[in-house]
Amino acid sequence: MSPVVVLVGPPGAGKSTVAEDLAARLGLAFRDTDADVEARAGVPVSEIFIDHGEAHFRALEEEAVATALAEHDGVLALGGGAVLSDATRALLAGHRVVFLDVGLAAGVSRVGMNGNRPLLLGNVRSQMKGLMDRRRPLYDEVARFTIVTDDLAPSQVVDQVLRLV
Ligand code: S3P
Repeated sequence: MSPVVVLVGPPGAGKSTVAEDLAARLGLAFRDTDADVEARAGVPVSEIFIDHGEAHFRALEEEAVATALAEHDGVLALGGGAVLSDATRALLAGHRVVFLDVGLAAGVSRVGMNGNRPLLLGNVRSQMKGLMDRRRPLYDEVARFTIVTDDLAPSQVVDQVLRLV
């Protein structure tokens, strides 16, 4: 078994919303590795970061991604930093990965609506810029398709994914 589509991209790209809509349109299940990590740890991602640090979260995330890639056959959304792992990027090579891209302004305005992101505390704009600059090559490396989501509603992103995959 293998996911039909795997969505990657920075926070604010709309991965979870699009994954859920896309799965509903395809009549498939939706899975999100952040939710898998939280279910396993029994606490929110932000608490894992605070209590155990980012490295611990990344280890849990790497395991959650490997498990989901092996056993989930619906739509899968990865946490924004999952591509930082060499092992995860290697695993993604065999999958239909879509990079949901977003520019800085749209990304910042979308994450502004959700404060549960430990890596974006403080100056959200400069944190987001650094994160996007560092990760863009990694998203590009794993992606088979890229969709720029800035001016699109989630349902329009879903339309584009369905055309591509
Ligand atoms: C992270 C993104 C978050 C979550 C964690 C770390 C990141 O997921 O995994 O806070 O490093 O970009 P979303 O991309 O769903 O916000």
